Amino acid sequence: MQVVQTITELRAAVAQARAAGKSVGFVPTMGCLHAGHLALVTRARQEATFTVVSIFVNPTQFGPNEDFSRYPRTFDADRAACESAGADLIFAPTPADFYPAGASTWVDVEGISTGLCGEFRPGHFRGVATVVAMLFNAVQADVAIFGQKDLQQLAVIRRMVRDLHFPVRIIAHETVRESNGVAMSSRNRYLSPEDFQRATAIPAALNEARRLVAAGTTEAAQVRTAAQACLAREPAIRLQYIELVDQETMTPVTQVTPGRCALAIACHLGNTRLIDNTLL
Ligand code: PAF
Repeated sequence: MQVVQTITELRAAVAQARAAGKSVGFVPTMGCLHAGHLALVTRARQEATFTVVSIFVNPTQFGPNEDFSRYPRTFDADRAACESAGADLIFAPTPADFYPAGASTWVDVEGISTGLCGEFRPGHFRGVATVVAMLFNAVQADVAIFGQKDLQQLAVIRRMVRDLHFPVRIIAHETVRESNGVAMSSRNRYLSPEDFQRATAIPAALNEARRLVAAGTTEAAQVRTAAQACLAREPAIRLQYIELVDQETMTPVTQVTPGRCALAIACHLGNTRLIDNTLL
């Protein structure tokens, strides 16, 4: 497995792979890899024959009061994990390498970026869309894999790819969960053991929503109220939003159309912000 830091080295390696007749699969990450990321690498290997993983803690997607400086950086462990998952190349630029001095170009995916997390993290999706556009230009992959856990991020990227005609196929991979049902996240390591247990109220709320919809409930307000009641059983959880939305547009719905909707949750446990969702 190769590890490269510059776009020139990356492009040379990808060109060599293409010259050998390989197709390119891409998994963008911010490092601190867990089994959820490695499932994305495995998926990329099923979809393409040369797998690139980027490891880049992107400064532009963090707000001024967010955890950019304390975001866990675990490069040696990440490299070993990528190698054992069968990745072919890690692209790990520094912010100074990747953002040209004085960079002033942004990708702003309007509308879809403003609700849900966008309301509480202004500028976050502008930073995500910009860095993912830059990564797509750098890697030139045939297929890119994103986790379903970041529901709104996925919708923003799909819209960006559609609107700007990026020649890359986007695949969503289902959320990988801890044995207690909590969605895997690099931020779970901030949780105390007690809060990690309390966080099980989140998948319980999602399960309740799925149960109601499977039983024929179509009123979004009814599903939302029942799921919120599950969360409320855990008083340490501070809810930021719980919303039934259209999977493609991220706009709130009043009626659940099975296969088209999702229930999305964001909350805090202690100082840790957690998000999760279920497709309905
Ligand atoms: O999901 C993430 O880890 C990041 O938002 C991404 C897509 C790698 C962009 O920095």
